[in-house]
Amino acid sequence: MQRLQNQVALVTGASSGIGSGVAKSLAAEGAKVVVNYARSAKGAEAVVEEITAQDGDAIAIQADVSQEDQVLKMFEQMYDTYGTIDILVNNAGLQKDSPFTEMSLEDWNTVININLTGQFLCAREAAKEFIRRGVVPQKSCSAGKIICMSSVHEVIPWAGHCNYAASKGGIMLLMKSMAQELAPHKIRVNSIGPGAIKTPINQSAWDTPDAEASLLTLIPYNRVGETVDIGKAAVWLASDESEYVHGITLFVDGGMTLYPGFATGG
Ligand code: BGC
Repeated sequence: MQRLQNQVALVTGASSGIGSGVAKSLAAEGAKVVVNYARSAKGAEAVVEEITAQDGDAIAIQADVSQEDQVLKMFEQMYDTYGTIDILVNNAGLQKDSPFTEMSLEDWNTVININLTGQFLCAREAAKEFIRRGVVPQKSCSAGKIICMSSVHEVIPWAGHCNYAASKGGIMLLMKSMAQELAPHKIRVNSIGPGAIKTPINQSAWDTPDAEASLLTLIPYNRVGETVDIGKAAVWLASDESEYVHGITLFVDGGMTLYPGFATGG
């Protein structure tokens, strides 16, 4: 029995990294998946092909989630193909790192606009459809599920990445405030807080033995994460198995949020 059968999922930023892993995991559980991408049509098509080769159902739709007109158009295209939405995975995000005093306004705005405003725009559109349509008991106990891709950096400060950490801290209270407001409509809202997951965003942190050894000092479980670790968490949060889980961040981080420096210090 597939846990997300006949449900429509939109995964933003799904042409690579965590988003592509989540798209594949949701599809393997029977969801029809919209693979959103901003620039990499090739990457998105590869994800769609991988899903359809496994007898899944997926389409790629281009949209920069920070642009309201593009988000509205993407939702229209999704409704034209699949009719509705049941699961939103607000995943699109990026880093533009620099020392604080050298951070340009442009890099600040780009990160906030995509990582935070993009989540607001997509969640708002999804919530409208969840409220309009309501619960369809044959599919799910909930009228819809929103999963925000946050980070361990919604709680761990990160020097050299102030824009990114601010965007993730913002996602935490956006998620909780949406959860409070949307619960009466039977819409579930949660976040996933990944730790260090092997993807292009943090390649320099794990792609040499020295880098990986240094990264592992921050991970008590002593393994760098894989995108499938996040995919499994997303499937669970999207499924009725987690029906009573609402307004939380599920950290999937091998213990990165446990202050590993205190294992011997303090
Ligand atoms: C960042 C990665 C980083 C990880 C753990 C993520 O949110 O995007 O670059 O490796 O947090 O610090």
